[in-house]
Amino acid sequence: MDILIINGPNLNLLGVREPAVYGNTSFDDFMKRLRSLYPHIGFDFFQSNHEGAIIDRLHADGFNGRYAGIILNAGAYTHTSLAIADAIAAIETPVVEVHISNVAAREEIRHRSLIAPVCRGSIAGFGLDSYRLAVEAIARPE
Ligand code: DQA
Repeated sequence: MDILIINGPNLNLLGVREPAVYGNTSFDDFMKRLRSLYPHIGFDFFQSNHEGAIIDRLHADGFNGRYAGIILNAGAYTHTSLAIADAIAAIETPVVEVHISNVAAREEIRHRSLIAPVCRGSIAGFGLDSYRLAVEAIARPE
């Protein structure tokens, strides 16, 4: 089974960016840990700070059956991007929304997710472990 992880804007700065909110671990280090925890799963990873590039990647891999699921942390685009929501609605591969922080406990503008209604489900607030929980959600037996 293969899973695609997509990180949106500013998530390239994980480990450096607001460590009190997002922790001290870089995503590279986290990916090493994830790969060692799930050696039987193939993980591909894509990060972009650009809305259109995220949409292009969803289109490129959303119809080919290559991935059992896509784990998407759309960053701030979560709260603003109808275009990413439309792309998720358009594709066939299920998408799981993740957030490192508990967005519901933060500023009101972060409470609204435009992508949540078109995702298979959402996981937030468990730090980087939110991604591992999303892997469990995709890999769980039917
Ligand atoms: C985030 C939460 C968003 O509100 C924020 O804009 C991010 C990261 C999270 O993972 O907690 O960039 O998606």
